[in-house]
Amino acid sequence: MKRAKITIVGAGNVGATTAHWCAAAELGDIVLLDIPKTEDMPRGKALDLMQASPIMSFDADVTGTTDYADTAGSDIVVITAGLPRKPGMSRDDLLVTNARIVGSVAEQIKQTSPEAIVIVVSNPLDAMVQRTLQVTGFPPSRVIGQAGVLDTARFRTFLAIELGVSVEDVSAMLLGGHGDTMVPLPSCTSVGGIPVTQLIEPGRLEEIVQRTRDGGAEIVSLLKTGSAYYAPAAATTQMIESIVRDKKRLLPCAAYCDAEYGVGGYYVGVPVVLGAGGVERIIELPLGDSERAGFEKSVEAVKGLVAAMDNLLD
Ligand code: NAI
Ligand code: 2OP
Repeated sequence: MKRAKITIVGAGNVGATTAHWCAAAELGDIVLLDIPKTEDMPRGKALDLMQASPIMSFDADVTGTTDYADTAGSDIVVITAGLPRKPGMSRDDLLVTNARIVGSVAEQIKQTSPEAIVIVVSNPLDAMVQRTLQVTGFPPSRVIGQAGVLDTARFRTFLAIELGVSVEDVSAMLLGGHGDTMVPLPSCTSVGGIPVTQLIEPGRLEEIVQRTRDGGAEIVSLLKTGSAYYAPAAATTQMIESIVRDKKRLLPCAAYCDAEYGVGGYYVGVPVVLGAGGVERIIELPLGDSERAGFEKSVEAVKGLVAAMDNLLD
């Protein structure tokens, strides 16, 4: 069977780490692309990664390039191109610069890989994935944003630490945008099948929820020169795996919601079934009053961000 062709645009921290994990998991052949200004950097990273394959026992062709011709016919394209945030910056501070970058990348993808499923990672995520949809004109099922897998992984990690249990036994769900208004859902979070609300008292659980919302900023404040990349790359790799292996994982992703949840045509984090067709289904959860209020607040924040982007790009 032919291997999937996975292009990763942006060979920086998230892009190169995603390439690493995709190659190690033998998810396909990988093309790492960056801007011409980076000269041979993507080729260098690709060659270095290939030379790890005999030791780590994986078969994958990994190539680096600055030319979109080398990405032609990709099955999956991951967009990590753009600036990461620095201490004191919010994801939204990256809006205009990254919207221009992501728009130009999306234009190239549209020409060279018209059948690709596109996973957007660049921030501010919910606006960048909307921009990619606008520019490519691809069906929304083929344009997806990565945020919820990362945010739930942070939530699961903090819960496992709190309870002293394996992360494997912690299952969680989250809704909303990738920002301060994200809505972790204790009602859909369990540990070995036991509702988390039976294991952690409400005040402490709220502190863990807040640490999850602040999870990206916590890493930025420690790294100082950029933002998180191991967990974001792992999250992106899990989405790629579900698509190339048609696993139909039920994962929180930024998906285009129109009638769904009454969102009206924006990207927002919701549970989706991810398979060979991209977003194959959006799962609509019944929400309690405070979850619904939190979700609506988050959707309003996403709408504001998209409106600001559209105005600034006019
Ligand atoms: P980085 O600075 O390490 O890498 C970004 C790369 O993009 C650089 O190599 C740069 O040369 C490249 N680039 C810039 N313009 C480009 C263009 N037009 N075409 C191709 N490549 C281009 O940054 P890092 O840490 O990899 O983060 C990348 C993006 O992902 C940032 O916007 C960051 O905020 C976002 N991010 C999103 C997460 C999420 O959960 N959605 C999590 C972590 C990061
Ligand atoms: C994060 O959540 C910066 O969005 C990135 O780590």
